[in-house]
Amino acid sequence: MEIRKAIIPAAGYGTRSLPITKVLPKEMFPVAGKPAIHHIVEEASLAGINEILIVVSRNKNMILDYFDRSLELEAFLAMNNKEYLLEQTVLPDVHIQYVRQPFARGLGDAVLLGERFAGSAPFAVLLPDDLFVSSEKPAVSQVLDAFTLTGSNIVGVQKAPHEELHQYGVAAPASPGPKGSVFALGDLVEKPKKNPPSNLAVCGRYAFTPEIFSYLKNGKPGAGGEIQLTDAMKSMLGEHPYSAVVIEGERFDLGKEDDYYRAIAWHLNRRNGS
Ligand code: UTP
Repeated sequence: MEIRKAIIPAAGYGTRSLPITKVLPKEMFPVAGKPAIHHIVEEASLAGINEILIVVSRNKNMILDYFDRSLELEAFLAMNNKEYLLEQTVLPDVHIQYVRQPFARGLGDAVLLGERFAGSAPFAVLLPDDLFVSSEKPAVSQVLDAFTLTGSNIVGVQKAPHEELHQYGVAAPASPGPKGSVFALGDLVEKPKKNPPSNLAVCGRYAFTPEIFSYLKNGKPGAGGEIQLTDAMKSMLGEHPYSAVVIEGERFDLGKEDDYYRAIAWHLNRRNGS
């Protein structure tokens, strides 16, 4: 079964990027002239996804405005013979809908709000603060390919430096361990303080079968009263087929200032042909 739907959770407070995120959502940080979330929607669209649910909160209306037409702007450009600039405002060809998360109760809670949207179909989740650039295939396409190959739930992972693994969910491959880039998942260890089971950190691209929703509903709030997506994935692991795919390409976590500047530098270098 092909995946045509994706959920993009974008309702968090972006506390790591304060104070700017008081007024400007992290998902709207500009990267190469477009907000970060535009790059994510484009990535999904390139992967054949044609329906997207963006989970927003009260102070994220800017995202809805961005993906809407601006009739005043169109009229202004037409009146001033500047229609050629309309090209700059073209949006990816996908249907986008929205749901509001009333309280930032965690990533798991945000995904659970997509239950009706997903219905009985498998779906992808893309975290909009994880920006991937890849010369080969968009990151989410690699996840969808692994889903088609295995028919199982998929989590995207990437190698991370040992000293950073404690910030991530870390994948423990099932024995006998990975042969290629897709491997059966044995366990997930959330933010291991010591002895991480591998150097493969969970990064923000997933494919789920709809069973995830019952695990999210039955999950108990974890740290900070939040419903954690990783907890639901862990509970699902022993009961449903689960695999991981090592995503090729460079990843930038836009919640980290250094990564944000590196993402801009990457696009600048590409534009300048270096
Ligand atoms: P993050 O933890 O990276 O984002 O969640 P955050 O909470 O906004 O930022 P920090 O950590 O405080 O700086 C990953 C994604 O999940 C969304 C966020 O918007 C982000 O895109 N999210 C997180 C929700 O939609 N709802 C939540 O309750 C939590």
